[in-house]
Amino acid sequence: MPLLDVKELRAWFHTRDGIIRAVDGVSFSLERGETLGVVGESGCGKSVTFYSMLGLLPMPPAKIESGTAMFNDVDLLNTDAATLRGIRGRRISMVFQDPMTALNPYMRIGKQVMEPLLAHGLCDRHEARKRAAAILEAVGIRDAAARMEDFPHAFSGGMRQRAVIAMALVSKPDILIADEPTTALDVTVQAQILALMAKLRDEIGMAMTLITHDLGVIAGISDRVIVMYAGRILEEARTKTLFNNPRHPYTRALMASLPGIQETGKPLNTIPGLPPEQGAPARGCPFAPRCTVALPECQDADCPLLPMGDTSHRTACIREHRVSCPGQENCL
Ligand SMILES: Nc1ncnc2c1ncn2[C@@H]1O[C@H](COP(=O)(O)OP(=O)(O)O)[C@@H](O)[C@H]1O
Ligand SMILES: [Mg+2]
Repeated sequence: MPLLDVKELRAWFHTRDGIIRAVDGVSFSLERGETLGVVGESGCGKSVTFYSMLGLLPMPPAKIESGTAMFNDVDLLNTDAATLRGIRGRRISMVFQDPMTALNPYMRIGKQVMEPLLAHGLCDRHEARKRAAAILEAVGIRDAAARMEDFPHAFSGGMRQRAVIAMALVSKPDILIADEPTTALDVTVQAQILALMAKLRDEIGMAMTLITHDLGVIAGISDRVIVMYAGRILEEARTKTLFNNPRHPYTRALMASLPGIQETGKPLNTIPGLPPEQGAPARGCPFAPRCTVALPECQDADCPLLPMGDTSHRTACIREHRVSCPGQENCL
C-alpha cells in the first residue's frame, strides 16, 4: 500500500468571475521513502493539490469537489481539522518557497525550530532544545546552539531556508512536501539546499514531494515525476524514462525550454501562449490550444492519463497512445 494515495482530487475556486478548476481529477501515489517530482508552469495547480490535503486552502473560495487522499488510514480530504493539525508539521511537513513567510520575524530561530516538537507534545523543552540544535547543525548551521538565539533577520536567505528545512524535519516526518524550496535562492545555494534535502531524506528515511516549475531541479533528485498542466496530470514516469522518452507534447515543450539543452548565446525557447486562466477546460486536452501537433479531436476528446502499453509510464496524450500502441486494451 502506498504511503499516500490520492484519487480523483478536484479543488475548484468559486470566484465572482466564475469557477476556476485549479485541480481537476488528479490521482497519484507516493511510496515510502520515494521522492516524487511535481513539475509544471506556474499556475497549473501544483500548490493547490498539496494545500488541499493539508487543509491549507482558503475555503471559500476554494472547495474540495471530489477525491480521497489516504495517508495510512486517514483520508486527508475528508477528515476533521483537529486530525489534520495532528498530522501537519508532525507526520507530513511542508517547506515553502519564501523562507521569510514561513518564519516569524519576531521569534528566535531556536524557538521556531523547537515549536513543532512542543506543539505536538513530542518531548519536553530541554529535549526539544537539544533536538533543534542537532537538526540545525545537520542542515549546515554552524555553531547552532548559539545561532538559535538569533532572530531570522540575522540569517542570509540560504540560511533562512536551511532553518525552515530544520523546522520541517525536526519531527522526523514520514513525508516532506517541498514547494519550490529553492526558487527564491541563487543558483549555487539552490544546489546546496537540494543536496542537503536529499541527504536528510535518506537519513530520516522519509518520502519527499518536490514541487517546482523547473524540470532541471528535479532531474537529479526525484525517483518519479508527474507533469501537471491546467489542473491535470498530463504525464507520469520514472525520472530517467521521462527525460529519455517524454510522451506528452507539453513535457517535450518543458524540456525544450530547459537552459542546459539550448545552445549558449541563443535566446531561451519558451512555450508560446499561456496556460488557461480558468484551470482545466470542461472538455478536451488542456494543452491542445498551445500544442503544435494537436489533432482536431484533441480539442474535445476525453484525455485520461493512461499507461503506455503495460508500463508504469502514463500519458494523457491521445495522439501518442494512437501512434505508439494502437489497438492495445488500455490505449485509445
Ligand atoms: N485564492 C485563490 N483564489 C482564486 N483562485 C486561486 C487562488 N489560489 C489559486 N488559485 C487558482 O489556482 C490555480 C493554481 O494555483 P497554484 O496551485 O498555486 O499553481 P502552481 O503552484 O502550480 O503555480 C491558479 O492559476 C489560480 O487560478
Ligand atoms: Mg505553487
